[in-house]
Amino acid sequence: MKRTIVTLPGDGIGRTVLEEAIRVLKAVGFEADYVEGDIGWEFWCNEGDPLPNRTIQIIEEHKIALFGAITSKPKEEAFNELAPHLKEKGLVYSSPIVALRQHFNLDICLRPCRTYKGNPLNFIRRGANNTIEEPDVDVAIFRQNTEGLYGGVEWSNPPKKVYEALLTHPRFVKNFGDVPVEELSVSTRIFTKKATSRILKAAFGHAKKYGYKSVTVCEKPNVIRETSGMMYKMAREIRDAEFPGIELWNTNIDAQMMWLTKNPENYGVIVAGNMFGDIVSDGFAGLIGGLGFACSAQVNPETGIGVFEPAHGSAPKYAGFPKSIVNPIAMIESACMMLDYIDEQGFAGKIRKAVAEVIEEGSVQTYDMKKMTGSQEAIENGAATTRQMADAIIAKLG
Ligand code: IPM
Ligand code: MN
Repeated sequence: MKRTIVTLPGDGIGRTVLEEAIRVLKAVGFEADYVEGDIGWEFWCNEGDPLPNRTIQIIEEHKIALFGAITSKPKEEAFNELAPHLKEKGLVYSSPIVALRQHFNLDICLRPCRTYKGNPLNFIRRGANNTIEEPDVDVAIFRQNTEGLYGGVEWSNPPKKVYEALLTHPRFVKNFGDVPVEELSVSTRIFTKKATSRILKAAFGHAKKYGYKSVTVCEKPNVIRETSGMMYKMAREIRDAEFPGIELWNTNIDAQMMWLTKNPENYGVIVAGNMFGDIVSDGFAGLIGGLGFACSAQVNPETGIGVFEPAHGSAPKYAGFPKSIVNPIAMIESACMMLDYIDEQGFAGKIRKAVAEVIEEGSVQTYDMKKMTGSQEAIENGAATTRQMADAIIAKLG
């Protein structure tokens, strides 16, 4: 059966990298039809909704989507760019990717960070006796993708009932009791047992399937006792009951960011709530080449719906270039994660091998890999364009 893949180019360079990823998918022999879904800034400005209902419907129908990137701007700027006839409607901009995650309950987010041999952007550190070490990073980060600080339950100048509820907490009275309500902003961090259990089980399941020896819960249970504490406690229970062979480690997000450059090779699977997962995944991505290499999958195992996207943004400053210079590898890797998810590991393996060969050979490198500043001159100075990088990968597919 031929599949239909929903493409969600979004804004800026999203469309450029997505087009290259689709060329690679075609070249490897993966057969599919592609339908485009509207998402992003343009639809906010013209329709007041960056994630129109018709887009939700085609994702619902076809279940698998490749997503480029979207632009988000602060509240006021967003309002100013709204079409004049929409300005009276009291619309407030919010990120369509966060909305998509929540609408489809794509609560399992996987962000692998693996070192490619020969990548000039690989992290190096000084070892004993002045040696230089290039640690092999192979980390799979599981980020809870729908709750926590991204739950959207927040207020500035909270309404009376909320304020009264806050006053029932002795710590609130002690620490904030004399603050005028209109000077309060409150963002909640809500964790549910159901979602916490799902992300933990996904993390342990992955460790077991791919032979990682440890799962690290990266939170802050010593301070954020209720939510982080619950996650760690549940991790212990799940490990003891279902995954006795896997080591359970516990790190605090701050210490983890410090250890990032000390011993990144020691970590296997890492699991965290939404915000800390966002932070720790960017941290590890920096060790393997940064945003040009950071891919992700967001799935709901119950419905089978999955959205695959690079972790980079829409890079508006590079979007208008006559020849695009951005690195398409993160998008191409995200397409590989999609292939894994729909049981096309054969194609995924071929593409990954081709990417690895291009990187190791080193004759085709985008500006980031050449450590140049991102400008049109980078091409004159020997950097590959987005297209040339994809072509080099395609050439290796044989
Ligand atoms: C990511 C991004 C998003 C997030 C932004 C664009 C809302 O940083 O996918 O990691 O914070 O989750
Ligand atoms: Mn992020």
